[in-house]
Amino acid sequence: MVFDVVVIGSANLDLVAQLEDLPKPGQTLLALGYAEHAGGKGLNQAVACARMGATTAFVGCVGDDDAGRFLRSVLDLDGVDTSQLRGVSDPTGRAFINVDSHGENEIVVILGANGSVGVNYGARGGGLVIPHCKVVLAQLEIPQAAILEAFSQAKKFGATTVLNPAPATAISREIIAVTDIIVPNETEAQSLGGVEELSRSGIKTIVVTRGENGAEAITTHDSALLSESFAPYRVTPIDTVGAGDAFIGAMCAEVASGASVGNACRLAVVAGALATTVRGAVPSLPTRAAVIDALDKSK
Ligand code: RIB
Repeated sequence: MVFDVVVIGSANLDLVAQLEDLPKPGQTLLALGYAEHAGGKGLNQAVACARMGATTAFVGCVGDDDAGRFLRSVLDLDGVDTSQLRGVSDPTGRAFINVDSHGENEIVVILGANGSVGVNYGARGGGLVIPHCKVVLAQLEIPQAAILEAFSQAKKFGATTVLNPAPATAISREIIAVTDIIVPNETEAQSLGGVEELSRSGIKTIVVTRGENGAEAITTHDSALLSESFAPYRVTPIDTVGAGDAFIGAMCAEVASGASVGNACRLAVVAGALATTVRGAVPSLPTRAAVIDALDKSK
């Protein structure tokens, strides 16, 4: 089988405190509420792709523990293929998340089992295997050696490679050389030297997500930069956790179905906005029907 999208990345149990304001250094605050959700940028993006109608496989590691079993069941429920999801002895990744009354968040990730995703760590005990697909999508919550191996395999069977450089950190030149599309938010784009620097690195398509200001796609044509902006879809946000993942999953699902990056971004902006109207990462990821419905109503 050829999947539409294969996502290689993290799977976390999100421990979410709901607060009036985010804490300042040294401050202790009483939470207004608490919830546990499935999360992890990799898992969120895989579920986002599946809900947008893409046949999707997830490659990653969870612990051999209750949280790992829960995350596996979440992927199963959304029809994401888990034949390359490996159970390891390290505990399942955790994310400590604070969300304030405006929906803004801060996140600390404990990698745990996600740190085991590696070149020699495939689901069946052999090497990493990326199933054949049209798009391979990765983020930076797993070791970069695994991303390089995944993208190198993708190039051999002609898939488009998409990198979400989150959390922001230096990316190896080898990975840049095998990346077709990079999707940073504004902060990540800045920390990678800005759009011009990124385009000089050889990546042909840069999609910058701008939160409540929509998104922008920048492509390089004959060394000139062409830019297209995508207006935001207006909502009242209550929780922004997973909004970027909803955008990227929707974009990749649409690209895999043959859409141009521009048309994919038009839907992705709506998917990202809808995700801010529901609490939790995975619970907030919209279906394609919900995205199309919202788009139609906004016309
Ligand atoms: O992008 C949101 C995600 O970042 C959360 O679900 C958390 O697990 C961290 O990976």
